[in-house]
Amino acid sequence: MNTMKAVICTRYGGPEVLQLADVPKPHAKKDEILVRIRATAVNSGDVRVRGLQVEGVMKVIMRLVLGVRKPRKPILGTVFSGIVESVGEDVSNFKPGDEVFGMTGFQFGTYAAYIAVKAKGNVLPKPHNASFEEAAALPFGGQTAIYFLEKAKLTAKVHPEVLIYGATGSVGTAAVQLAKYFGAKVTAVCSSGGSDLASRLGADHIFTYDTQEFTQLPQRFDLFFDAVGKTKKRSVEHLLKPKGLYLSVAGLDYASENIAQLELLKELFEHHGYDAAIDRIYPIADVVAAHKFVDLGHKKGNVILQI
Ligand SMILES: NC(=O)c1ccc[n+]([C@@H]2O[C@H](COP(=O)([O-])OP(=O)(O)OC[C@H]3O[C@@H](n4cnc5c(N)ncnc54)[C@H](OP(=O)(O)O)[C@@H]3O)[C@@H](O)[C@H]2O)c1
Repeated sequence: MNTMKAVICTRYGGPEVLQLADVPKPHAKKDEILVRIRATAVNSGDVRVRGLQVEGVMKVIMRLVLGVRKPRKPILGTVFSGIVESVGEDVSNFKPGDEVFGMTGFQFGTYAAYIAVKAKGNVLPKPHNASFEEAAALPFGGQTAIYFLEKAKLTAKVHPEVLIYGATGSVGTAAVQLAKYFGAKVTAVCSSGGSDLASRLGADHIFTYDTQEFTQLPQRFDLFFDAVGKTKKRSVEHLLKPKGLYLSVAGLDYASENIAQLELLKELFEHHGYDAAIDRIYPIADVVAAHKFVDLGHKKGNVILQI
């Protein structure tokens, strides 16, 4: 049997439940491409699934959806960049050797040497100027941020004033750059340790939540977007203009991926100086250390695994 190296999640728990193993190598079905993965990322969603990090009744729901004692899909990871190794007989939009990037979402499976994905799914040619590491950093935070900013109908407003709370996470770093691209005036709220990054990403104003009381800000906003899910609407709604909108990643709304979001990220990286905001890069053998770091909740942007 053909095998490949992958990281499997042996049960729910701390980072040490992750183990390198030999597993069956997938093959491309007729509408799929087989990708030799070069880089993936350790995202907040991965550590949440690994540790079943949700409260109350959500724990029960998550076990039902993902697997009772351990994830039913044992290979975690939702983003990838790599090289097409083979294509199914019905595939005409990719060929072996193409460099690609994408996101599998709830299909997981990217902490592995290979993955087979639908050729017409959430996968595109990699931005030509991106490294594999940069390409793997784009989809998770980027597609989530686009989903929420589009939901806020940001492009329908002229120079909207936007506050991005938690501007230095994977979603936050993307949201700052995307809001700027959509023409917004952006106020970023982050810790003092993140202010250099927020400034590099183009924020117009930066408020450091550990030294300043951001709820006392004199400005009023068209959109308050909490990109880390740490605020409550009732505590910050006085910062909104009369028709202003509060959105948070912590609500019941789950971002859904589509190819237009991925195309926008590719375009921004190739032509508009979009920053992949990479914090650390680990070899796949150090996946436990990478998860320990992400578990701390203070990563600045994205944490990448090289495969
Ligand atoms: N609804 C959805 O569809 C969806 C999709 C993706 C993600 N999410 C959720 O969105 C959240 C963020 O995801 P992510 O991947 O961007 O997380 P992340 O990258 O792990 O976020 C870490 C960042 O948050 C900052 N942070 C931590 N505590 C903070 C606080 N109290 N105030 C402001 N900033 C704080 C940290 O910087 P400092 O510690 O230096 O402040 C760090 O830069 C997660 O809870 C995730 O589950 C939801």
